[in-house]
Amino acid sequence: MEDKKYLIYHGLKCPKENHTLESLKYFENFQIDVLDLFCISYPKSGTTWMQEIIPLLLNGGDLTPVESIPNWERVPWLEETRAVLFLDKLSAPRTMVSHMPYPLMPPTFSSSKAKAIYIARNPKDVLVSSFYFHQMASFLDDPGTFEEFMDKFLAGQVLFGKWTDHVKSWRNTDLGDRIFYITYEELIQDLRGALERMLRFLGRQMSEEALDRVTEHCLFKNMKKNNMSNYSLVPQEVMDSSKSHFLRKGIAGDWKNHFSPELEDKFNAVIQKELEGSGINFPWD
Ligand code: A3P
Repeated sequence: MEDKKYLIYHGLKCPKENHTLESLKYFENFQIDVLDLFCISYPKSGTTWMQEIIPLLLNGGDLTPVESIPNWERVPWLEETRAVLFLDKLSAPRTMVSHMPYPLMPPTFSSSKAKAIYIARNPKDVLVSSFYFHQMASFLDDPGTFEEFMDKFLAGQVLFGKWTDHVKSWRNTDLGDRIFYITYEELIQDLRGALERMLRFLGRQMSEEALDRVTEHCLFKNMKKNNMSNYSLVPQEVMDSSKSHFLRKGIAGDWKNHFSPELEDKFNAVIQKELEGSGINFPWD
């Protein structure tokens, strides 16, 4: 039976609200440019944060674009319907985000010289963030109870499939030093230090003063006030901020307020088993 809210793309759920067969074709056939930069994330891992950070690192810390252009237009999702509208307007290096696992990236990506930044987040906090997102976004299924939603998450019956498949696919690439890994937790712990590391990866420099300005601007409390990034431009019937804000809590460890010891055991058992032998060690392990 056809799903009302989702397109199924290579087994992955993509919301029909912003994905069509045409937008996915556009994604598949996209011609990568040597200067292109991708920020890759599993949903709810800090994508919006990176859509704020990366343009500022690339432009020397000028706040004008992030205060005047909505995040989905300044750093578009390559697989979404809006990509075709906005990508032509971007100047090099074009910066895009994507939630796709590595094997589904456009064929020219791996052989190109394009760079990627992969942001990962503790999957327990991803789950909590996604649970609230499903309550406020009318284009997503009602999540049910927290435990019901956890079961769907662990089974990969959620947006863009299993979290473990996503991180494993991006940890095992042939991109060498063209990919930079960062975690949401590192950004929370030392935002300025993380920005410095990203600058080095991007081959950019910034004055101390500009770096201070960017760091301050990208703090949760300040980004929450930026109407170009807090999704307040989206109509209430699409994202209902009376149920939950898109920029909701912005912390690491909110899972502790949602997981019972039993749920934690169940979650750990599945995630640990699926990461076994992958060589992946995250700071929250
Ligand atoms: P919470 O729901 O836990 O608050 P994505 O952009 O990938 O959908 O991820 C959204 C999550 O990133 C939300 O998590 C949101 O609050 C958080 N986030 C966005 N900007 C942030 C910032 N500047 N500082 C901390 N967290 C941020």
